[in-house]
Amino acid sequence: MLRAPKILVFDSGLGGLTVFAEVARLRPDAAFIYAADEAGFPYGDLPESVLVARVVAVMDRLISRFAPDVIVIACNTASTLVLPHLRERFALPFIGTVPAIKPAAIQSRTKLISVLATPGTVARDYTRDLVRAYAADCAVTLVGSSELASLAEAFMQGENIPDDAILREIAPAFVDVGARRTDCVVLACTHYPLLIGFFERLAPWPVEWIDPAQAIARRTDHVLTQALGFGAGGAIIRNPGSVTALFTGVAAPGQKLKEALSRRGIEKIDLDSMPLVFA
Ligand code: DGL
Repeated sequence: MLRAPKILVFDSGLGGLTVFAEVARLRPDAAFIYAADEAGFPYGDLPESVLVARVVAVMDRLISRFAPDVIVIACNTASTLVLPHLRERFALPFIGTVPAIKPAAIQSRTKLISVLATPGTVARDYTRDLVRAYAADCAVTLVGSSELASLAEAFMQGENIPDDAILREIAPAFVDVGARRTDCVVLACTHYPLLIGFFERLAPWPVEWIDPAQAIARRTDHVLTQALGFGAGGAIIRNPGSVTALFTGVAAPGQKLKEALSRRGIEKIDLDSMPLVFA
């Protein structure tokens, strides 16, 4: 395949930028669409049937508009539920983002690990199955936060985030049972690495924060080269302007967010209003 690949990176909001950054590093040759379903945000509190219908509908529109070669669902809340529906409906490769419980269980020495995620992700059968399959030798604390993804969005928009708002959300992930305490916390929502500076500074004690973004980027590159026949990513220098961000809301991003996107190589911003309708 001689042309450059087209990669669609999708999230409910800005969290998927943490995955996009790693994919873009491995595939500087690719054209990217970064799609944020801001009109559906936050996904973490949506009923499952609503979330499935929403993601399938948005994906339908994105695929007809952009015809991507590969789609990265850079959202744990969506991936842990919607991937089978997407794969059934669209004949395209989907790469999901799911809680990195397996690497955390392997890395942990104290065998006390925590999974920090949205309420939707911690409630999923998929997540509970990962715990049973890969962390049977660990005590796993699942922490569902209703606030952190919104705090991450606010942070990206340049708002001031008080430390205590963050600390309240991460504190339950730190378990101390005397002789042992949590040593690995899985960042099981792509928004959370945006707040890593707060997490590291406010953590009651140092832990490993496990972020699967690099593994997802490697998987995406593997699919492009092995399954789809694209050449290696380093060969071509990226065209400036080959990244488009698309927001499903009606409000254009403010100046601070535009600057944050620009620092990530995103200059073109498009709005495509897709209101969330509860059936
Ligand atoms: N970024 C999403 C995730 O990885 C969730 C944020 C939301 O609640 O929409 O789970």
